[in-house]
Amino acid sequence: MNKLLNYIIVILLYTFTSISAHAVGTESVKSSNPISGDATAIEEGKTLYRANCAYCHGLRANGKGRGLPKSANLRKFKRGYTAFVSAVVNGYKRMPAWGGMGPLEYEQINAIGAYLETMAKEGANWEDEE
Ligand code: HEC
Repeated sequence: MNKLLNYIIVILLYTFTSISAHAVGTESVKSSNPISGDATAIEEGKTLYRANCAYCHGLRANGKGRGLPKSANLRKFKRGYTAFVSAVVNGYKRMPAWGGMGPLEYEQINAIGAYLETMAKEGANWEDEE
């Protein structure tokens, strides 16, 4: 009886996770981000993005925030996951390190990346070359 119950729970969990992976449409963009497509990370990333990045990059990540003019359109980001992490940690051209908003953990940067992937437009690329 207990075994049967365990079996049913495993099946339910499996069904549930595969459904949520589909719901976020992760098949649209290839990525080297280790937590790409993780529904919990994507939710966390959304909150972090809004707090740390949206000021310049805009709520819809199209580069049209109220901060620095001509911030990058992150929906079209195509230099790969490692370049993404580097841009955040080290800054990139006119963007200061961390966007000037203070350090984030790597897990948090990955979560922001996972969230941005869900908004990726055609031509975007989050996969590292190798
Ligand atoms: C103070 C404004 C500001 C904030 C805050 C900010 N950025 Fe930026 N970011 C910019 C600007 C401006 C550029 C374009 C740099 C240039 O071309 O000179 C940029 C560029 C980038 C790039 C490179 C884009 C490319 O196409 O290569 C990435 C990735 C990026 N930002 C991610 C982020 C993330 C993630 C956050 C939040 C943690 C963030 N930025 C916060 C202003 C900002």
